[in-house]
Amino acid sequence: MMLQSSLLGMLALAAAADALPNSVAEAAPLRPGSPASISNLKDKIKNVVWLIMENRSVDNLLGGQKHPGLENPIQNGPYCNPYNVSKTCLGKACSQPRDYDSVKNDPSHAVSGNTMEFYSTWTPDNEAIADGRLKPNMLGFVTEQYHNYGSKVNLTELAAQVMNYYTEDQVPVMTSLVQNFLTFNHWHSDIAGPTDPNRLAATSGSSHGHGTNMGTDYTYQFNFPSIFQAVGERNMSWLNYWDTAGGTGPEAKAYTWTQATNNTDRVVPMTQFYTDAAAGNLPTFSYLNPSCCGVGTTSMHDSGKISDGEAFIKKVYESLRNGPQWENSLFIITFDETGGFHDHVPPPLAPRPDNLTWTEKTPNGLNYTYEFNRLGGRVPTFLISPWVSAGYVEQFGTNSFGDTVSYCASSILRTLGYLWDFEPFTPRVEWAPSFDHLIQTVPRKDVISTLPNPADFTDPWISGRKE
Ligand SMILES: *[C@@H]1O[C@H](CO)[C@@H](O)[C@H](O)[C@H]1NC(C)=O
Ligand SMILES: *[C@@H]1O[C@H](CO)[C@@H](O)[C@H](O)[C@H]1NC(C)=O
Ligand SMILES: *[C@@H]1O[C@H](CO)[C@@H](O)[C@H](O)[C@H]1NC(C)=O
Ligand SMILES: *[C@@H]1O[C@H](CO)[C@@H](O)[C@H](O)[C@H]1NC(C)=O
Ligand SMILES: *[C@@H]1O[C@H](CO)[C@@H](O)[C@H](O)[C@H]1NC(C)=O
Ligand SMILES: *[C@@H]1O[C@H](CO)[C@@H](O)[C@H](O)[C@H]1NC(C)=O
Ligand SMILES: *[C@@H]1O[C@H](CO)[C@@H](O)[C@H](O)[C@H]1NC(C)=O
Repeated sequence: MMLQSSLLGMLALAAAADALPNSVAEAAPLRPGSPASISNLKDKIKNVVWLIMENRSVDNLLGGQKHPGLENPIQNGPYCNPYNVSKTCLGKACSQPRDYDSVKNDPSHAVSGNTMEFYSTWTPDNEAIADGRLKPNMLGFVTEQYHNYGSKVNLTELAAQVMNYYTEDQVPVMTSLVQNFLTFNHWHSDIAGPTDPNRLAATSGSSHGHGTNMGTDYTYQFNFPSIFQAVGERNMSWLNYWDTAGGTGPEAKAYTWTQATNNTDRVVPMTQFYTDAAAGNLPTFSYLNPSCCGVGTTSMHDSGKISDGEAFIKKVYESLRNGPQWENSLFIITFDETGGFHDHVPPPLAPRPDNLTWTEKTPNGLNYTYEFNRLGGRVPTFLISPWVSAGYVEQFGTNSFGDTVSYCASSILRTLGYLWDFEPFTPRVEWAPSFDHLIQTVPRKDVISTLPNPADFTDPWISGRKE
């Protein structure tokens, strides 16, 4: 798979070089974080738009994509989980095509839920994890779902909710993004836990010891440097566009700096994004918060509909693509965490961002301490720009220490630090591989101006099941 995808990358570069003979010398891949790569990044990208969606794994949302380079159930599966890791005689459930538009029973994404999902126990041996003896087996997803809802819901349906995947025709917007832009195969959330810690880590390099959701009223404040401060202090423009229906963020308000510097007026309604994009008024940095989490919201968080999330992404994309700033824009779409949906790739170890830990009582009454020394599951991540290769699938990255490692949410802060000259906030960000080298030196002229319409899940051929 890796060979195949790097081959595709080379073919894509060769095709670009063919189209423009004078670019042959530039076609050699740039080294991530190198002066030539950073200078190319600064030259091409003047506006960054960053959207974090909610709670989906690669194997769930992109599990049915047949595009080469993605490791997923349709190409490499099926993957199976026992119904109950402690009672394997009950049999197992395997990943199957077609999942629900709206998944009714929200899978657990708490630290202990993630721990069961990855290690088949709520209390794995941390020493064995740290020294590499104990690796995640990714077998506990159905057990955790069964534990949370088993007495109330049909077990076959519960297993399908977490093990099944969306086919290409169920998520046409995702399919088009995979085929037209750049997708990461090995991109993980920073924290093996829920939303708020991951959104903090994405924007400031750590969850600062938090392992659970804190709510988004922001009566509490974090006195830590964030992407908003880094951009603001360099006198660059930024706005945090958020869907006023609420449910995620606005993260800018989580930081003391935003309040202390009277920058709360940079948190503006999502509707303004569309007018700013059309008028060419987008700031240097746009951070987008979708709404969450039930039916009618846009983040893809269950029971919010996949098709509503696709409609939202289509609208953001088309506003940017057809606005005057497109030619120097980089649109990053990622997800906060896996939301308890199955993924078969074991999350790797990673340096701790700080010395803090999180302890929580697990369902079996014991305490488990998460040391923030390992990543969460794989989440879908796309780079969208005229400066990325069409249909390219990136595998592992190379960090500034020269190690080949998985990408993670902190890779965004690492890359934006190169773009806008700020230092990594934490050791985790310093370790994270950047992706500046994926920005090409020749722009594409063939970029689609619209994305497909989302699937109609009332069509039995699409849904394959009754809702
Ligand atoms: C998904 O997001 C919601 C809303 O923030 C959160 O309550 C839930 O814990 C998340 N799921 C996981 C598995 O983190
Ligand atoms: C799984 O099996 C174990 C051992 O028999 C049992 O204690 C546990 O309750 C079972 N889990 C569920 C969700 O039924
Ligand atoms: C659970 O749902 C499946 C699929 O719809 C069905 O075949 C099965 O009979 C149901 N089982 C129970 C115990 O209701
Ligand atoms: C930003 O602007 C302020 C006020 O004009 C100025 O004092 C400061 O030096 C500028 N900072 C940078 C990094 O340019
Ligand atoms: C913030 O606004 C208040 C009220 O307008 C003003 O008194 C204060 O000086 C401002 N602070 C900063 C850091 O600009
Ligand atoms: C963690 O603690 C150790 C020992 O006190 C210290 O050397 C190290 O710098 C600390 N790391 C961070 C990220 O604070
Ligand atoms: C879990 O930790 C809490 C808080 O430190 C402590 O009070 C409790 O006794 C611990 N429980 C177990 C089972 O160790």
